[in-house]
Amino acid sequence: MSKILVIGSTSGIANEAIKIWLEQGNHIHLYARNHDKLKMQVADLEIRFPGHKIDAFTFEANNLSKTLDQISLDNFDIALITVGELKYSDELVGQIQVSEKLINSNIQIPLAFAQTILEKYKTQGYGKLGIIGSVAGDRGRGKNYLYGASKAFWETYLEGARQEIWKNKNISLSLIKPGPTNTAMVQGRELGNLRLAKPEAVAKVIVNGMERGKSVIYAPKIFQLIMFIFKIMPIKIFNRLSF
Ligand SMILES: NC(=O)c1ccc[n+]([C@@H]2O[C@H](COP(=O)([O-])OP(=O)(O)OC[C@H]3O[C@@H](n4cnc5c(N)ncnc54)[C@H](OP(=O)(O)O)[C@@H]3O)[C@@H](O)[C@H]2O)c1
Repeated sequence: MSKILVIGSTSGIANEAIKIWLEQGNHIHLYARNHDKLKMQVADLEIRFPGHKIDAFTFEANNLSKTLDQISLDNFDIALITVGELKYSDELVGQIQVSEKLINSNIQIPLAFAQTILEKYKTQGYGKLGIIGSVAGDRGRGKNYLYGASKAFWETYLEGARQEIWKNKNISLSLIKPGPTNTAMVQGRELGNLRLAKPEAVAKVIVNGMERGKSVIYAPKIFQLIMFIFKIMPIKIFNRLSF
């Protein structure tokens, strides 16, 4: 039985990963900002998985110190950080506070958790950490480049952290890059012909990839090929694409 920590547990993707981990018989610690949502999530999980170990806590996003202290006292085998929000470029025009909030949700808050978990893993000598970035971090697009840039942050952060701990083979740091997925994040958005992945399928790829300690996990896996093509695409062609 592994002890698993999920930060931002009310996320649609996280909720499906949690179900897989509970099915496997693991002990789950959930953290989320919204008390009522978390309560509903736990009630649902307790019906689906009676008798399983679920601990749940709310955190205050602008006052994390108590939560971080609490987390650093425990020894987790696996931690997944899913906190994040999406804004398109046109929603940010003249809205500096909205841009700042996006950076807060996609970098500052997850970073506070990531640093705490990483330090803990270095002390305890083992652990698997997964942070959800996005395929949007692979190449800047006009439609969502602040969101993409905030997700690209994790590429360099985790690359450096992996180099720092490279001698310790019992710690793995996974950057998870979902493609467009059918969760609350994309609901009500104009998506054109975009096909959305099911969060259950994305979660399965994440759980398997983290189990294997993969450094980068594209979910669905086909996005590894899709993003490879976009990444090598000459800028003159890329700039003409209207997606
Ligand atoms: N869905 C996609 O198409 C897609 C694609 C690529 C990457 N991702 C990434 O996948 C991760 C999970 O997203 P999802 O698709 O599962 O969407 P979601 O259901 O909307 O989940 C987002 C999670 O982040 C939490 N959150 C957002 N801002 C926060 C803040 N400032 N402080 C604390 N918690 C905050 C939300 O809490 P509440 O429940 O309280 O709102 C929720 O738990 C995100 O990092 C997202 O960027 C999603």
